[in-house]
Amino acid sequence: MSSAVSPQQVDLEQVDLTDASWFADGPPHELFARLRTEDPIHRNPLPDGTHCWSVTRHADVSAISRDTATFSSYEAGIFLHPDQVLPLTLARNLLLYMDPPQHTKYRLILQKAFTPNTVKALEDAIRTRVTKTIDKVIEAGACDFVDDIAIPVPLGVLTELMGVPEEDLPQFLEWTEGIEEAQRSPEPDAASEVFVQMAGYLHAQIERQMAEGNEESLVMKLRAAEVEGEKLTDPEILVFFGLLAFAGNDTTRNTTATGMHTLLEHPGTLEALSADPSLVPAAVEEILRYTSVVQWFNRTATKDTELAGRPIAKGDRVLLWYTSASRDEDLFEDPQTFDIHRAKPDHKAFGGGGRHFCLGAGLARAELRILFEELSRRMPDLKLAGAVERLPSSWANGLVKMPVTFTPGPKEG
Ligand code: HEM
Repeated sequence: MSSAVSPQQVDLEQVDLTDASWFADGPPHELFARLRTEDPIHRNPLPDGTHCWSVTRHADVSAISRDTATFSSYEAGIFLHPDQVLPLTLARNLLLYMDPPQHTKYRLILQKAFTPNTVKALEDAIRTRVTKTIDKVIEAGACDFVDDIAIPVPLGVLTELMGVPEEDLPQFLEWTEGIEEAQRSPEPDAASEVFVQMAGYLHAQIERQMAEGNEESLVMKLRAAEVEGEKLTDPEILVFFGLLAFAGNDTTRNTTATGMHTLLEHPGTLEALSADPSLVPAAVEEILRYTSVVQWFNRTATKDTELAGRPIAKGDRVLLWYTSASRDEDLFEDPQTFDIHRAKPDHKAFGGGGRHFCLGAGLARAELRILFEELSRRMPDLKLAGAVERLPSSWANGLVKMPVTFTPGPKEG
């Protein structure tokens, strides 16, 4: 059952949270609040007559994320259909789809290359990219925030990280759009063709960078990283680059767009950030909590078990609703209020907090901080100039269009 019925009145037993119509005006936070109180391990009916479990409380999302032996990412993948986006057999090469011990080994090697220093080294390049992106629209006094800011910055940073040349950005955009559409497609396996094309391209990029031998490039760092005598093979490096395009792009784009939309819904916040940029890191953390753009991932029960008194059968799918956990009243005071003065909110925007905790969280935070520092200084009076169009999805909280106007602020900080 979907949003035709109000969240207060709907018979919870009938609620299918994966139905995108519940999300037409943004995540249904009233419904999540009811579920957390009345039915936190919700038997979620699905249109094909089967069911999954929708888990909405912070404590349960955290506990399940940490129990990878009982709740697997490998067994049937991280979406509802095992072959959503890519065939499961192929997708299992991606870190997101692995369980320990395979995940532990692979992640340790990646962490050696993908360090806080990797992010630090990118900061100047991120600021230059943000500045150039704003420069392109600032004199016009109007733009589409999604097309002109939220899309180009994360995409550009990602290609910078991978060492992909600037002129190939439009092609890269096309591929990442293909992956995003595949996440929403009713057809399984919808991104295989995109991944094949992208793999051919990335292979050539990696070969070139190996020949150049720049020790600071991510490719060379990944080749050098070693844990207990184990290294990544070149095909594994290629797969990791594919994962970055999958995991690091839309997530940051959607947080940028919904984050700015949230600031506009709270008049004065942008000016406050402009007047005191030291508030930006806390504002970014609250934006992450409040928007939680990856709304859920799936786990599959590896044995019969129980969650808060509900019997879960081996093979059952369990959806971890990060977007609900990030607004759990057990953890957050006044969770529906956007408050940039919260102290270090333990939100679930980067996942449940277990082994799969977002590997790119440091990069995403740096990118968002620099973006909102520059935007609040240079566009302090940014306003909505038309209707906002939402991504029709229960999985991603994102915007497709957001027309805005502004008058230019100072270019130099
Ligand atoms: C605001 C932006 C971002 C959000 C909201 C986000 C969110 C997430 C979430 C929810 C997960 C799953 C965690 C779990 O299962 O518990 C994840 C995993 C991951 N993310 Fe991010 N992410 C963001 C940016 C990035 C960036 C910029 C990169 C890299 C360039 C990245 C790379 C990854 C990788 C590689 C994983 C898999 C980790 C694993 O399975 O061990 N993410 N992210």
